[in-house]
Amino acid sequence: MMALKKIIDSMEYGPAPESTAEAHAWLDGHGRRFGHFINGGWKAAKGAKTFKTRNPATGDVLATITQGGKADVNAAIKAARVAQTGWAKLASHGRARHLYALARQVQKQSRLLAVLETLDNGKPIRESRDIDVPLVARHFYHHAGWAQLMESEFSGQVPLGVIGQIVPWNFPLLMLSWKIAPALAAGNTVVLKPAEYTSLTALLFAELCDQAGLPPGVVNIVTGDGRTGEMIVNHKDINKIAFTGSTAVGSRIREQTAGSGKKLSLELGGKSPFIVFPDADMDSAVEGVVDAIWFNQGQVCCAGSRLLVQEGIATTFMARLKARMANLRVGDPLDKCIDMGAIIDPVQLKQIQKLVKIGVKEGAKLWQADCPLPKAGCFYPPTLLENVTPTSTVAQQEIFGPVLTVTTFRTPDEAVELANNTRYGLAASIWSENINLALDMAPAIKAGIVWINTTNQMDASAGFGGYRDSGFGREGGLEGMYEYMKPAFERGLRPQAKIATRKPKGKKVARAILDRTSKNYVGGKQARPDSGYSRIIYGADGAHLAEVGEGNRKDIRNAVEAAAKASSWASADCHNRAQILYYIAENLSAREGEFADRLRAMTGVSAAKAGREVQAAIARLFTYGAWADKFDGAVHSPPLRGVTLAMNEPVGIIGLICPQTNPLLGLVSLIGPTIAMGNRVVVIPSEAHPLSATDFYQILDTSDLPDGVVNIITGNRDELAICLASHDQVDGIWYFGSGSGSADVERLAARTIKRTWVNYGLERDFLDSEQGEGREFLRHATEVKNIWIPYGE
Ligand code: NAI
Repeated sequence: MMALKKIIDSMEYGPAPESTAEAHAWLDGHGRRFGHFINGGWKAAKGAKTFKTRNPATGDVLATITQGGKADVNAAIKAARVAQTGWAKLASHGRARHLYALARQVQKQSRLLAVLETLDNGKPIRESRDIDVPLVARHFYHHAGWAQLMESEFSGQVPLGVIGQIVPWNFPLLMLSWKIAPALAAGNTVVLKPAEYTSLTALLFAELCDQAGLPPGVVNIVTGDGRTGEMIVNHKDINKIAFTGSTAVGSRIREQTAGSGKKLSLELGGKSPFIVFPDADMDSAVEGVVDAIWFNQGQVCCAGSRLLVQEGIATTFMARLKARMANLRVGDPLDKCIDMGAIIDPVQLKQIQKLVKIGVKEGAKLWQADCPLPKAGCFYPPTLLENVTPTSTVAQQEIFGPVLTVTTFRTPDEAVELANNTRYGLAASIWSENINLALDMAPAIKAGIVWINTTNQMDASAGFGGYRDSGFGREGGLEGMYEYMKPAFERGLRPQAKIATRKPKGKKVARAILDRTSKNYVGGKQARPDSGYSRIIYGADGAHLAEVGEGNRKDIRNAVEAAAKASSWASADCHNRAQILYYIAENLSAREGEFADRLRAMTGVSAAKAGREVQAAIARLFTYGAWADKFDGAVHSPPLRGVTLAMNEPVGIIGLICPQTNPLLGLVSLIGPTIAMGNRVVVIPSEAHPLSATDFYQILDTSDLPDGVVNIITGNRDELAICLASHDQVDGIWYFGSGSGSADVERLAARTIKRTWVNYGLERDFLDSEQGEGREFLRHATEVKNIWIPYGE
């Protein structure tokens, strides 16, 4: 027995190198020089600037890549535009066949793709072969399915047009598939720019598109660095930008696209917690940490980079983790026995070293596995930073390397508090054998993805993405498909008519006999405006109807504070929320005549029209009372033994800037879906006709709505929208106003990467149920959280 143990302990790994012959032959076949792939062929302008792409594990030059300039970007976008009509016309089955062919093509060339990825990126061949490439094929198969079902499952939706896609270097081919597959399935064409460090698999993929018979112009690949990316972002003929990368660049893209009408999805960084409770299966959890932070050398946006371990087991857990780390093998990524490969580039290596130094300076204890590193190339050992305080730089900032910070906690509440203590909100991993505890924690953690007793799981059927500094929008799943389409009626929307917010010219003003000044509504109470100013509201006939408060930044601050205090609304049960919505409708119904009179006086509409608007508002409240307990997510079955729960959660605090027209129905159409889904709102009513809103809070007062769920501030709509868009604690903005107001909201939302939904100055008909209510509103009022639960012993 002892002899056997001795043999096992002294056994050494032999080298198990993957052959690179095919990959090098492919590079040689192209003369190790690549242009762009535009309109189904290779293009490179004469004398175009180029750069080298290197193998990070050796520093060897692999090929010369072309830096895309204006002419290249223009040509690619033009080709995509021309191809889009035909591609969309292929309809569901036609596109499905192409996506299926692409999936097959990826499988047929899977080894070449995996080896090329490892050569260019430095990730272990085990990962590119067993994780990246199979997930790429899976993504195309899954989306061939969505293409097939597009007409039946997304009726009333149309493709956006030409999509600009910018991907990072950490999962070059996988990110490409996450971008291209849903875009094509929905009937769009694309111009994709790979990261400058890792262009090769995108170029090989372009060739596969050609071999699979994809029509020219449907997929175009333009290479280059951030400057090329910026040209795509700013191009006039792009309908959407899909970006994965750093938070800083994501925020910049939000600013640059503000007001342009380009749809945007951002998949940015993370600082995801990995939480270990005392009853966790410790060996599994240790292995989980390995997968969480040393997968792809920690260069993963959803890496579990912050270990939160319960104080009572911290010593034992860390001892086991260190023992496991000592066995990790760092080295030639093409060796199949390697656990960790190379860091992408010396620039990234320096960044990791810099941040680790800062961590140590701020008091962290450094521990590194004593594993030998290759002499040449770009490598960094598996690293722990222990005793990290929650506010230190390394606990807050993404390191994007194989570095794990360690912090202890005592209670589940403290774990949640620590987990949520960063600006990011991408993923979290919870380890406990007590499934009740884990499922109780999952909704409390601010993250788009929660893994229970597992980590870094991804699948095409489950949406991936986060919120706050981790971006917005989802990739994969049903929610990912919606990122690439829009309601067909949007094509016919016209610019909204201008509505006077001041005294009608030339009309004689009749003063109200009994003065009536409506205050703001904050935290369930009437509140005088901080400014001490009021504004007169005139009727359509020029009569002085009433005065309302002139709200300012401080009123917005108070309203947001009140909304923050009403957080229990998010966890109120759906039945309860439905009952309150019905009750609001009932109370509005009791005062139908009064509300109709007010509409007539303010807007000058006929009695019949005013009556119809009030009726529609009551019906709309019923609609959202109905939806409150029915818009309830899904259970996905990804290829693992377990389930993924796609839970619809409220966005948080949403600023609602209501349309000028239909002052009551517009107001109810925005409040209804948001509060039905558990959000709290700060409402800026129609500036011209705010009295329906100030009357409406009397209804709220008698409808059992908890204080602070709805707050109403009157005044200059666009100025107040700006205050909301720049407020740190506001999670989302819906803006139905002017084109310039829409641009301001999107631009200001860039700093805190808020979710926004704006109308770019186009008029929606809120009386039309297709335009004014339903799932589109509910989707904007929710975040999808995917909770992964494996099962079995
Ligand atoms: P990056 O955000 O600069 O690059 C990502 C992609 O955006 C690349 O294709 C790049 O060429 C392009 N790009 C850069 N500037 C652009 C601009 N102004 N307009 C349009 N496109 C632009 O990320 P980088 O510099 O490669 O890495 C820096 C840090 O970002 C990393 O240390 C890491 O913390 C984070 N990162 C996060 C990723 C994620 O998956 N969330 C992926 C890559 C990096």
